[in-house]
Amino acid sequence: MNIPRPGRFITVEGTEGVGKSTNIAFVQQWLTEQGIEVVLTREPGGTPLAEELRSLLLAPRDEAVCNTAELLLMFAARAQHLSQKIRPALARGAWVLCDRFTDATFAYQGGGRGLDTTPIETLEQLVQQGLSPDMTLLLDLPVETGMARANARSAPDRFEQEKLQFFSRVRAAYHQRAEADPQRFRIIDAAPALPQVQQQITTVLADFLEAC
Ligand SMILES: Nc1ncnc2c1ncn2[C@@H]1O[C@H](COP(=O)(O)OP(=O)(O)OP(=O)(O)O)[C@@H](O)[C@H]1O
Ligand SMILES: [Mg+2]
Repeated sequence: MNIPRPGRFITVEGTEGVGKSTNIAFVQQWLTEQGIEVVLTREPGGTPLAEELRSLLLAPRDEAVCNTAELLLMFAARAQHLSQKIRPALARGAWVLCDRFTDATFAYQGGGRGLDTTPIETLEQLVQQGLSPDMTLLLDLPVETGMARANARSAPDRFEQEKLQFFSRVRAAYHQRAEADPQRFRIIDAAPALPQVQQQITTVLADFLEAC
């Protein structure tokens, strides 16, 4: 019997407007050209229910959103996404490419909002049961540049309405995560023009594929 090899799980992370969505499409194209089946998805979201939770999470609203409620909604969406989309895709041998994942929770709800990491780790264990990305591309850019790019693109969502200091804490938390797990993280300098950013990404992908 031909048992399919489990696929690989790649996530793309970074603060607002660093180019995650732009570059994840490039990664999808590059991997597809290598003959790999790719499932492109995003967090929060990725299934109909999780996308509804995304809309609830991102909508600007007058009511203050309690940090714990925000954290639980993120992990509720993630649990659904993992069970309905990510795990089945990996099991049949597809590669999953996800625009943000749990590192974003540590960065935004942990670093940005100031939540203790212990409950985040507890929820990570509960929801992921040991499944974590095989590789994470961290697109890194000064916060001001990313915000300027994001603001030039569309009206700000509930997170994008946060202040510069919030995103500085998010960026610092991403750096901490990357330092703590250098095997998994690849830091990409997202400041140069797109072709140079994508050159760095191509090098990283080629190395990763060779090691698979
Ligand atoms: N290297 C680059 N140089 C200049 N502009 C860029 C570069 N990369 C992306 N952009 C532009 O910056 C804007 C933000 O990019 P994109 O939407 O991919 O970022 P994002 O990280 O997905 O943002 P968000 O956090 O809001 O989801 C887009 O208008 C995109 O075309
Ligand atoms: Mg995006």
